Amino acid sequence: MNHTPVMLAEVLHHLAPRDGDTVLDATFGGGGYSAAILAASHCTVWAIDRDPDAIARGAALAARFPGRLQLVQGCFGDMVNLLAARDVTALDAIVLDLGVSSFQIDDAGRGFSFRADGPLDMRMAASGPSASDLVNALGESELADTLYQLGEERLSRRIAKAIVTARKEAPITTTVQLAAIIRRVVPADRSGIDPATRSFQALRIRVNDELGEIVRGLEAAARLLSPGGRLVVVSFHSLEDRLVKRFMQEAAGRAPAPSRHDPAGLTARGEAGFALLTRSAERPGEAEIQINPRARSARLRALARLPLRRFEAAP
Ligand SMILES: C[S@@+](CC[C@H](N)C(=O)[O-])C[C@H]1O[C@@H](n2cnc3c(N)ncnc32)[C@H](O)[C@@H]1O
Repeated sequence: MNHTPVMLAEVLHHLAPRDGDTVLDATFGGGGYSAAILAASHCTVWAIDRDPDAIARGAALAARFPGRLQLVQGCFGDMVNLLAARDVTALDAIVLDLGVSSFQIDDAGRGFSFRADGPLDMRMAASGPSASDLVNALGESELADTLYQLGEERLSRRIAKAIVTARKEAPITTTVQLAAIIRRVVPADRSGIDPATRSFQALRIRVNDELGEIVRGLEAAARLLSPGGRLVVVSFHSLEDRLVKRFMQEAAGRAPAPSRHDPAGLTARGEAGFALLTRSAERPGEAEIQINPRARSARLRALARLPLRRFEAAP
């Protein structure tokens, strides 16, 4: 079991860590980004993850870079408080690599995957209600709304009805049980995507309040960046990327709604404190996707706090 870091070269390029910098890896995971940042310059890396297993695994990397990697368990939405409690109030670079790691997906016991039988859990941190709690307790219409809004599942009402019918017989407690209920009412289409995919995504996002975390995390990151500091975000589906795109465009003073006179929405509004480092989302190259199919849906966006460092210009 391992996690292959996604778009690592592009992430490093935009973070551009220098000797003496203080960098935040807000989603430590398998530590792939942290390891590369530590090797690229003599900087200090603060690494946050809400998953206690990820933090425990990080001890080996911390030992390889004595005094330069500090691991903190918690949610990146709380990064201002987590870091202030450790006397860190400004950062030169911040990276967020959203979603779950391969360690989490591949461990059947965590319940993220419908491909392996396990408890219907899906919590990144081992606290709060699990996916099983939600599936057995939510009302039918709230369940349908969740599947529709967070999974973009068109057949959400049909699935919610099937879940409510099934749970009257027995509580739904395993991944395989839920996947089977969904597959009975959602026909497989020609895309080859498993009919349970969208519903599992929706439940995972809700269980971990992933969209709320992104909003809180982006706002906190913008507050913590020093002048010239960079924020790099890698996202994996349209709900995430939409939030990141809107946040970065607004921070950079770009009009959110394109107009006839400014079709690309590139006119600065007032005094923007930030500049976009990526004009549109960057995508992984075909060679990376071949090696790491999980990179396929990745999109990278980056921004910097003004004024930029010397010799740099926004695109
Ligand atoms: C895609 S993985 C990161 C992989 C990492 N970049 C690497 O190269 O190994 C995402 C990690 O972020 C963590 N995570 C997700 N949402 C989080 C949040 N709101 N706060 C803290 N950690 C979070 C997950 O537990 C997971 O370990």
